[in-house]
Amino acid sequence: MSQCRVCHSEYKPFINFGPQPIANGFIPEDKIGDEYFFEMQVGHCENCHMVQLIDQPSREQMFHGEYPFFSSLSKHMQIHFKEFAETIERRFLNHNPNPFVVEIGCNDGILLKNFAEKNIKHLGIEPSENVAKVAEEKGIRVTTRFFDYELADETRDKFGPADAILSANVICHIPYIESIFSGVEKLLAEKGVFAYEDPYLGDIIEKTSYDQIYDEHVFFFSALSVSYLANKFNLELIDVEPQATHGGSMRYYIARKGAYSPAQHVEQLIEKEKEMGLNKAETYLQFKKNVEKSKQDLVSLLEKIKKEGKRVVGYGATSKSTTVLNYCGIDRNLIEFISDTTPLKQGKLSPGKHIPIRSYDEFKENYPDYALLFAWNHRKEIMEKEEEFSKSYKWITYVPEVQIF
Ligand code: SAH
Ligand code: TYD
Ligand code: ZN
Repeated sequence: MSQCRVCHSEYKPFINFGPQPIANGFIPEDKIGDEYFFEMQVGHCENCHMVQLIDQPSREQMFHGEYPFFSSLSKHMQIHFKEFAETIERRFLNHNPNPFVVEIGCNDGILLKNFAEKNIKHLGIEPSENVAKVAEEKGIRVTTRFFDYELADETRDKFGPADAILSANVICHIPYIESIFSGVEKLLAEKGVFAYEDPYLGDIIEKTSYDQIYDEHVFFFSALSVSYLANKFNLELIDVEPQATHGGSMRYYIARKGAYSPAQHVEQLIEKEKEMGLNKAETYLQFKKNVEKSKQDLVSLLEKIKKEGKRVVGYGATSKSTTVLNYCGIDRNLIEFISDTTPLKQGKLSPGKHIPIRSYDEFKENYPDYALLFAWNHRKEIMEKEEEFSKSYKWITYVPEVQIF
């Protein structure tokens, strides 16, 4: 039994993905012996309905000066974050002539850039030095530290209360959630908003997108669990907005209790989640069965293609692919290499299974028979770019099920 990070009840794992490496731990050939693995298991707390990893590697093992994820590499994500900034400005910054915006995990500045360009007072909090430096080069003010209660307190003293605390694909990474929520409560202005988005549990269950489960993602949020969490810190979930990003995300709007009246969407979404069974153990047992089937289908398909003597290349060395490769036991035997546009990943090997990561040019210069779409969450952007490949060759996806298209 483990203790829920939110309500401290005991809970058990419903699924075990076996030993998994650091999902973004792309390694050079000569470091192969030093790799770290942890047993990756997920559980559902029957009291507060938080779905969470049992164990997680330390934050310094995951976020550091060579963190290889750069948000701005996707054009669609740049548009998404411009719209996020505009929504916040329109809904929450108008009442203050000199508003202050804080972002937790600003990465290379993809979101804050939109505020910096308008000379809106802002602060990015980003512990991974290399990506923080890229944000600073864009004229963004960054504190290169991990956000927690202590930093929230210091930030309020130094800059004043925040009208908006924003975050995307970060809160779900942080196991010390009580420190985060009490920090938000400390830093937030009276009418301030804490708006954050993360991959949505409802989509993960519906699409069997088990690749969203990897070391960095300690929490899989739903309106059910987030409303419980907010309430514990004298805060309130006032609105929710589904997002198409990362294969299905949810944006949660949280404010001080009583500062805004909650939109009807909140209660409606909680009702829908109960209908979906996100509050029931059976749902997670069914998910486990779906994951096992997905694994069998993918491995048999790749083995069949190999027997036919055809080539398969992975498209996008996502962190998500680390779970798929290690859980399904897919290595160089079945996938020749993975093509990726991130210079820091190229020339290295995929975590755990050691498939070479090569530049995008190598994919373009010698098309394989099949491309296995690991970056399935960017499917629209990639299909627009790869019309030529799609004319003569095939794609493989595994979300929502294993399929050739
Ligand atoms: N917001 C960006 C980046 C997401 S990647 C986007 O949506 O594309 C997650 C980022 O969170 C990494 O850059 C990591 O360094 C950062 N991070 C991890 N723990 C953090 C913490 N406690 N406080 C602030 N940032 C954190
Ligand atoms: P993403 O799915 O955003 O992240 P995660 O690591 O959270 O699973 O990562 C996309 C990866 O795919 C990133 O390494 C860049 C790469 N990529 C390409 O190689 N080509 C593309 O056209 C796109 C959109 C991404
Ligand atoms: Zn709980």
